[in-house]
Amino acid sequence: MGGPGLEQQLTDRHGREIILREAEEGDAVPVLAFVRHVDRESTFLSREPGEFAASEIQERQHISMLRGRTGSIMLLALHDGELVGAIDFSGGTRRRNVHAGEFGLSVRRPYWGAGIGGMLLDAMLVWARGTGFIHKVRLRVQDRNVAAIALYRSRGFEEEGRLAREMRVDGEWVDLVMMGLWLP
Ligand SMILES: CC(C)(COP(=O)(O)OP(=O)(O)OC[C@H]1O[C@@H](n2cnc3c(N)ncnc32)[C@H](O)[C@@H]1OP(=O)(O)O)[C@@H](O)C(=O)NCCC(=O)NCCS
Repeated sequence: MGGPGLEQQLTDRHGREIILREAEEGDAVPVLAFVRHVDRESTFLSREPGEFAASEIQERQHISMLRGRTGSIMLLALHDGELVGAIDFSGGTRRRNVHAGEFGLSVRRPYWGAGIGGMLLDAMLVWARGTGFIHKVRLRVQDRNVAAIALYRSRGFEEEGRLAREMRVDGEWVDLVMMGLWLP
């Protein structure tokens, strides 16, 4: 759950105006289209193209659930009204793990390397610190995803473990690296 203070207008490395804001239920259709695009544009995510099968109603419910919980959020990056990047964080729901959660991040391929992934991650971390109760942010990333790992390291994330051969991508076994950042 966020608030109006989350909306920001930023400029990417190519001078494009990027709006960051929290996802709303009315974004369900563009979010579904975005996921289908990013699943086709890289093999670094967990799904093969076409595997993401949520309906509009399910996506609305997912966004609504994230908006309704204080420890979860989905932030979108838009350029000219088009969804070009997204980050979603889901926090724990029990007293013993409410301080911790995991996120997923993706940016449309034509927009890679323009600073948008960094903007989304920074905005999510500002929000997480602002909650006052989230102290641990983690993710899993394919070990061959050097761009993403460089991005996370640049923000202070450290490797915490490795899930050997957790994925099979185009016939190759791929390890997942678990990374975490402690927010005091
Ligand atoms: C990983 C991803 C989110 C990065 O987003 P991005 O908008 O391209 O990243 P940015 O332009 O904000 O780059 C931020 C940092 O990432 C690193 N980085 C980005 N691209 C890189 C590359 N090709 N090689 C090495 N480092 C790279 C750099 O540390 C960069 O720092 P800089 O700002 O000092 O140059 C994006 O490439 C993506 O969506 N990839 C496909 C899906 C995916 O892999 N998601 C992450 C799953 S864990």
